[in-house]
Amino acid sequence: MHFLPEKLDNYVVKHSQAEPKLLQELSRETWQKVLNPRMLSGAFQGRVLSMISKLVQPKSILEIGTYTGYSALCLAEGLSKNGMIHTIDKNEELEELQHKYFQKSAYKNQITQYVGNALDIIPTINTKFDLVFIDADKSNYVNYFHLIIEKMNKGGIILSDNVLWSGKVVEELDPKDIDTKILLEYNSLLNEDNRLETVLLPIRDGLTISRVI
Ligand SMILES: C[S@@+](CC[C@H](N)C(=O)[O-])C[C@H]1O[C@@H](n2cnc3c(N)ncnc32)[C@H](O)[C@@H]1O
Repeated sequence: MHFLPEKLDNYVVKHSQAEPKLLQELSRETWQKVLNPRMLSGAFQGRVLSMISKLVQPKSILEIGTYTGYSALCLAEGLSKNGMIHTIDKNEELEELQHKYFQKSAYKNQITQYVGNALDIIPTINTKFDLVFIDADKSNYVNYFHLIIEKMNKGGIILSDNVLWSGKVVEELDPKDIDTKILLEYNSLLNEDNRLETVLLPIRDGLTISRVI
């Protein structure tokens, strides 16, 4: 979904940092070999994630929804010295491709991969987070929030992807559409929780940034 007319969108991309070579390679391989390549964050959002991570300089990052590892590598760019990104995906078929690119990167010793359901894995990660990126099944966004909020460091950042859900959040709700229903609940929850300051950015499919006060 383009929020800006295509010409302006192209201008924005042209005047933003270029996509690193390894990520170009990963993107190409994902589009060639993996189902649903549109799930990958892509060049522009990837640079946004990298920039936010560099501003935060996190010691500890949690990513829910690794897919082929593109956004994990973008977020890893901002890790502080000896920092670690924990990234979870339930699809075991993706593990090899993720691992291949993590190993090729400068962050190979700073990435911990988990294969399994994030709802089961998050409680087993015994650390607090400075940055969390939520980008898995929309129907569990509220559940993820409740699992991570007590694990956030003060000043920590929660990034939530696809919060505009191709514009469905402002259309009439189909009662059978669970994902949109949960996203509507989630967007209100983030904005109303007094432990957070939240801004919904109209980047790609909607990216919310919430700061833990
Ligand atoms: C949108 S993709 C993630 C894209 C990735 N963050 C990126 O930007 O390149 C969502 C991923 O979440 C994973 N996923 C869905 N439900 C999950 C769950 N309950 N636990 C862990 N991973 C899950 C899917 O297998 C899929 O790879």
